[in-house]
Amino acid sequence: MNDIINEINRLKKEKNAVILAHNYQIPEIQDIADFVGDSLGLSQQAAKTDADVIVFCGVHFMAETASIISPDKKVLIPDPEAGCSLASTIDAEQLIAWKKEHPGAVVVSYVNTTAEVKAESDYCVTSSNAVKVVESIPKEKKILFLPDRFLGMYVSAVTGRNMEIWNGACHVHEKIGDINFDDARAKHPNAEFLIHPECGCSTSCMLKSQLYFDCKNIHIFSTEGMINYVKESDADEFVIATEVGILHRLKKIKPQSNYFPVSDESVCEYMKMITLEKLYESLLHEKYEVKVPEEIAQKARIPIDRMLSIV
Ligand code: 13P
Ligand code: SF4
Repeated sequence: MNDIINEINRLKKEKNAVILAHNYQIPEIQDIADFVGDSLGLSQQAAKTDADVIVFCGVHFMAETASIISPDKKVLIPDPEAGCSLASTIDAEQLIAWKKEHPGAVVVSYVNTTAEVKAESDYCVTSSNAVKVVESIPKEKKILFLPDRFLGMYVSAVTGRNMEIWNGACHVHEKIGDINFDDARAKHPNAEFLIHPECGCSTSCMLKSQLYFDCKNIHIFSTEGMINYVKESDADEFVIATEVGILHRLKKIKPQSNYFPVSDESVCEYMKMITLEKLYESLLHEKYEVKVPEEIAQKARIPIDRMLSIV
C-alpha cells in the first residue's frame, strides 16, 4: 500500500495535480486527498486551485461541476461509472417540459444534476446553501425546485416558500426515515443527532426540533455542516444520518467522541467505486477526462456562479 501512495504523491507533483475528495469517499482516498469536503467546498476548491489537473474523487456530476467552473483545467475522475441515483431522476428534456408547464418560474437545481440540467436552470444550490439561495429569490416568483423532494420539502418548510418540487430522491438517503430515527433516539437518548436534508426524515426532524424541548439535539446539516458542528460541540456522542463514509473524517477530527450511523446500510456504491488503484491509474494515464462541451458549460456556469456569489 505504501508503494501506491508514494507513486500517487510522486505523480501528483510531476503533473501539478490536486486531489479533491468528497466526505463519502473510502478512508484511503480521504487520507491521500489534498482537500476533503462537501459539494460546495469542493466546487470552491475547484474554482480557486492553481493546479493544472484536478482529480475528482467523488461522483460524475461533481467532476462535471469542476470542469464547468475551471474549463482551463484537466478534470479527471478515476471511475467514469461513478454516477448518482438522484442526478439520474431528471434530464434536460424533462426539465424543459416542466418549465413549459410553469412559464416564468425560477428554476433552482440541486448540484446533484447533470451539466445539461444545470444549463436549463437559473440557480444552483447545494445542501449547505439551499435555504440561503431560495431566500434570495423575490417572494412573488414561482420556484421549480429539483430534483430532491426531501431537500425541497425541507427548504420549503424552513423558508415558508411554496415551491413546485420534482419527485426525485437519493436511493441511500430516502431510506433513512422516521423509523430509523426513532430507533436511534431510543438507543442514544443523550446523543446529538446530525441529519442530512436529503434524508426521508429531514422535514419531520426539523419540525420536531422546533416544536419539542427534548428535540433540541436534532440538527439538519450538509456533510461539511456536520463536520463543523462536531468541531465546535462539547458532546461526546453523535448519531449521524447520512452516508457512512463521513464517519472516517469525523473520527479523525475528534477521535475522543463516539459516532453512530443511524443505519449501517447507508452506503453509496457510486462513491465507493473510487479506489487507490483507480486513482493511481487515473493520474498515470490522465483518464478519465470529464469535459463539458463549452456550449453547455457556458449556460451551466450561470446558475453555479450565482450560487457561489451568494454564499
Ligand atoms: P453534501 O453536499 O452535503 O456533501 O452532499 C452531497 C451528496 O451527494 C449527498 O448525498
Ligand atoms: Fe448521489 Fe445519493 Fe450517492 Fe449522494 S449518496 S452521490 S445523492 S446516490
